[in-house]
Amino acid sequence: MKRLLAVGGLLAASMVVTYSTRRAVASASLAPLAIAYTNDTRGFLESCGCSKSVLGGLPRRAGLLRSLRKRHPNLVVVDSGNLGEGDAHLDVSLRAMSLMGYQAVGMGLAEVLGGNRCIRIAEKRKVPLVNTLVPNGKRGGYPREWYSVVTRGWRVAIVGFSPSEHYDADALRHRLRVLLPRLRQQHDLVVALSQLGMARDRQIAEWQGERDWLDFIIGGRDAAQLAEPLRVKRTTILPTSDFGREVGLLTVRRVERELRWECRRLPVDGACQADAVVQGLVDDLRRSEAEKLEEARRQETQGLRGLAGRLRVEWVTAAQCGVCKKRAYGAWLKHPHSRALRTLEEKGRVVPECLPCHSQTFRAAGRSPEKGADDGVQCVICHTGGVLHRMMPRTKRIKRDIGESVCRSCHDSKHDPDFDVKTRMERLRHWQER
Ligand code: HEC
Ligand code: HEC
Ligand code: HEC
Repeated sequence: MKRLLAVGGLLAASMVVTYSTRRAVASASLAPLAIAYTNDTRGFLESCGCSKSVLGGLPRRAGLLRSLRKRHPNLVVVDSGNLGEGDAHLDVSLRAMSLMGYQAVGMGLAEVLGGNRCIRIAEKRKVPLVNTLVPNGKRGGYPREWYSVVTRGWRVAIVGFSPSEHYDADALRHRLRVLLPRLRQQHDLVVALSQLGMARDRQIAEWQGERDWLDFIIGGRDAAQLAEPLRVKRTTILPTSDFGREVGLLTVRRVERELRWECRRLPVDGACQADAVVQGLVDDLRRSEAEKLEEARRQETQGLRGLAGRLRVEWVTAAQCGVCKKRAYGAWLKHPHSRALRTLEEKGRVVPECLPCHSQTFRAAGRSPEKGADDGVQCVICHTGGVLHRMMPRTKRIKRDIGESVCRSCHDSKHDPDFDVKTRMERLRHWQER
């Protein structure tokens, strides 16, 4: 029974594809090469918190990687980037990744927007950031233009393509035409970490024509976008999984003069033993965020609006909640609460006097909101604890019993004299009967 279960689990969780590629190989190696890869953690430091199949979390990922390392002496660990926003979160992610022994980490939108701050934190935490598109790397600076990872008998080159406002396809093509054949000569495998999106990943693979520049692309997307390896020219785009729910595992063997590989996705589930040190980092962050939030809330009740912003406390936007809570988000989008800012825009009254009840950005950060945004009465106003919930969904720091006093903070006697909680609750409905 036990064996059957294990096999069932494997089939459900992973998909194995074997493929071979013809290439003359210099040295024979005993152990196959294994590349464990992750992408788009997006600040999900702990498991996803869904009621079924709870997946993800850095502590468990660390446990999984440790057990993979035991089985695969030639394990290379990489991430294509997009770790999440916020300096404190990023610092914890990067420290954890340093402990997990990541050998190359690409830069996603989150890192690019984080700019130099993000790069500085990564450098301090000794995480090897790679970005082939920045001029820095050429001078041996940081982030590096590419990394060469040498394990017993294998040499792997890793390049990184990160999104940029100034993406210039011709320049990249030119750059790759020079760089990749050179890396190819010196390595057994050339792997790209990419956050450019599917269309550009395909285009890059197309560029090589009949030459073999690049063996694998590990992109930034989820399994819904690409569930199986996709062959484009001589490159294979590997399926990935976001929010850290799964770890991809590519294994490559030499069979005579050929390379044979297979890939699978391993769930980061309850069977992975959480690593105590990484768990400690996450717990510390949880405590300090909780203190900050508490402080911000205390200050806010004392009437110091905007302090939350000064303390750099983030909140979770409705769209971010909507990633998991699709139905509630859909209902909210149709509700006047989501349009509260636009109401002010229509009246030409985007002013501090009116904003506290009509804009979350103003309420939380004391900043002017973006024009035309769905920035009204957002989820966190009623459910609170958004940052903690998103970061660690299972902590359940979500408020569910929401009383009339919450509504009254805005639906007060001046702005809504005939507020009746019963009928208004009916019109707020975005939850299901239990
Ligand atoms: C942060 C301020 C704020 C809080 C808290 C708040 N509301 Fe509102 N609500 C608004 C604003 C502003 C509008 C008007 C939006 C618009 O049309 O631009 C509104 C509109 C509504 C509407 C739609 C108008 C209507 O009469 O049908 C309902 C229903 C509603 N709120 C119910 C509630 C309930 C119930 C609560 C408490 C659980 C609540 N609101 C809490 C600010 C708030
Ligand atoms: C204390 C919170 C609060 C403040 C401050 C506030 N509003 Fe509102 N506003 C509300 C609530 C609550 C509603 C929903 C009332 C309802 O549904 O009857 C609302 C509704 C509205 C609506 C009607 C939306 C519709 O459906 O037509 C307009 C317009 C509006 N507010 C404009 C303003 C302007 C302009 C200011 C600044 C002078 C302002 N509000 C300040 C809480 C506030
Ligand atoms: C104005 C206040 C308010 C806002 C804004 C709001 N909610 Fe709610 N939400 C409630 C209330 C009240 C309930 C009912 C709680 C109960 O009775 O169980 C609820 C219930 C829910 C539930 C069901 C809870 C459960 O235990 O399963 C979900 C999920 C939910 N909300 C998600 C969201 C999301 C996502 C958003 C933003 C897109 C949002 N809510 C915005 C007040 C709000």
